[in-house]
Amino acid sequence: MSALHDLIARLPKAELHLHIEGSLEPELMMALAQRNGIELPFKTVEEIGAAYDFSNLQDFLDIYYLGMNVLQTEQDFFDLAWAYLERAHADNVRHVEIFFDPQGHTEREIPFATVIDGLTRALEQAETRWGMSSQLIMCFLRHLSEEAAFETLEQAMAHIERIDGVGLDSSEMGHPPSKFERVFARAGELGLKRVAHAGEEGPPQYVYEALDLLHIDRVDHGNRALEDEALVKRLVDSKMALTVCPLSNLRLCGVERLEDHPMKRMLELGLVATCNSDDPAYFGGYVNENYVRTAEAVGLTAAEIITLARNSFIGSFLPQAEIARHLADIDAVIASELA
Ligand code: HPA
Ligand code: ZN
Repeated sequence: MSALHDLIARLPKAELHLHIEGSLEPELMMALAQRNGIELPFKTVEEIGAAYDFSNLQDFLDIYYLGMNVLQTEQDFFDLAWAYLERAHADNVRHVEIFFDPQGHTEREIPFATVIDGLTRALEQAETRWGMSSQLIMCFLRHLSEEAAFETLEQAMAHIERIDGVGLDSSEMGHPPSKFERVFARAGELGLKRVAHAGEEGPPQYVYEALDLLHIDRVDHGNRALEDEALVKRLVDSKMALTVCPLSNLRLCGVERLEDHPMKRMLELGLVATCNSDDPAYFGGYVNENYVRTAEAVGLTAAEIITLARNSFIGSFLPQAEIARHLADIDAVIASELA
């Protein structure tokens, strides 16, 4: 193992941008399709893999929504989340803030409770077994209406103590943050954290809207903010964390080659950038793979890799004392590397 691989493997990390439905590996998709008698347009794991040839976000989303049809029972949601948590644990992830898409399931007549019960059972097991902490962020699908988002928030009320925040995902272009201003205001009144995908494919204007109208606590992706100098300054000055997902950007053609990825530039500009996997089953790598391949492609230094790990806790929604504890664990790893 190279020195950088070794450092990345040893650093404690948080993952802040992970769609649990996007961690559905082809093998589990096939197994759940069989278990539940669901017809898929693919016959083999290889055929599923071959379909993952995307040229933009929408290409990916079409297959992502198709894949999630196999998720039917509480046990399915448990199995999905547990498989991800085992991978995260193997990557030395100590804290996760997980997105889920309730509308992707309730639209198929799967009860909200089935989804959240299965996910939280897996998260509780990870906490008990490994001391891994977690939060759950419920995303609104932005291609659906404001009314549908309000209905989803209403359904969430019975489980609100298990939900830490709201997010905004799915097809970005043509669905600006402004469409969800009122539902995000309501979420804020409920004391929920607020995040939104912005500037993944959409223009800097969408990042401004997410800040000014949705009052977000963190930006998901944010890559296109780099096109606007004043916006970069604002993000730096306000220490706003960005959940950047390099292999996702590569697979969805936000960058042509990983060598062109702006991660190093983001750090040099002083942005609180973090490194995450987004939809690892679809984009070819869990969190450590994102760190390693990005570090190799854009030439991150050991100090920059450590900054990414530190930022993952600093940008999390953990209490300050917990953040301090994780940062001290990072310092201990660095001290042992130097010893
Ligand atoms: N972008 C937007 N919506 C999504 C994504 C993404 O990367 N993954 C799952 N839903
Ligand atoms: Zn995402």
